[in-house]
Amino acid sequence: MPQNEGAAESARDVTCEIMRPSMAMLPAYVAALEGGWSPDNLRHAVAGEQLAHIERDPEGFLAGLDDPEAKGPPMELPNGLRVPRLPGFRRWIWDGEFCGTIGLRWPADRGPLPPHVLGHIGYTIIPSKRRRGYATRALGLMLGEARRVGLSYVELTTDTDNDASQKVILANGGVLVERFVKHEAYGMAHGLRFRIELH
Ligand SMILES: CC(C)(COP(=O)(O)OP(=O)(O)OC[C@H]1O[C@@H](n2cnc3c(N)ncnc32)[C@H](O)[C@@H]1OP(=O)(O)O)[C@@H](O)C(=O)NCCC(=O)NCCS
Repeated sequence: MPQNEGAAESARDVTCEIMRPSMAMLPAYVAALEGGWSPDNLRHAVAGEQLAHIERDPEGFLAGLDDPEAKGPPMELPNGLRVPRLPGFRRWIWDGEFCGTIGLRWPADRGPLPPHVLGHIGYTIIPSKRRRGYATRALGLMLGEARRVGLSYVELTTDTDNDASQKVILANGGVLVERFVKHEAYGMAHGLRFRIELH
């Protein structure tokens, strides 16, 4: 292989995986929270709430990230409304270091999502790990998990100006379904809804 070709390949080499959160990885997650990153793009208070939870009960915190039977407490929406939790789980995006999180949730009957749930899958990459293809790869890996829980398609939503997230979805076979108005809990802003078929 010519030398330059090898260099170009390693620059594009994407090595992240999605992992079940564990005690061994927890210090890296805490460091990201302490560095000002929030796993919730909409509710930044979540970072402080999670740090307090981890301090109090690290095992319970980790267990709550893996909840395919929706045993956890109700979810709080950005406007403070509390709604029943859907089955779901989070994975941590990892390349030897903590890179971000990706979550999957689904209605127990595998039917349509309730209007206050903005998509089956959500993700965020910490700023220092962005633009390496990690969100694109993590979504691809999570689609395999979505098939395993019996979903025939997933919906994802983005803000209308979130070009990066839209590229991540399109690169994974997403098709734009509609421009829509978000539920009142999200201030009725405009969003884009995409769909990925899982054949
Ligand atoms: C959106 C986000 C997850 C993308 O993560 P990422 O790992 O940097 O994404 P990728 O490296 O896989 O990049 C995917 C594409 O978006 C492009 N991209 C990345 N950041 C971009 C930016 N700020 N502006 C425009 N394009 C961008 C990449 O160049 C790539 O395009 P390409 O395939 O044509 O090369 C990340 O920016 C983030 O965490 N943002 C805050 C949270 C968020 O918006 N989550 C999604 C909510 S819907």
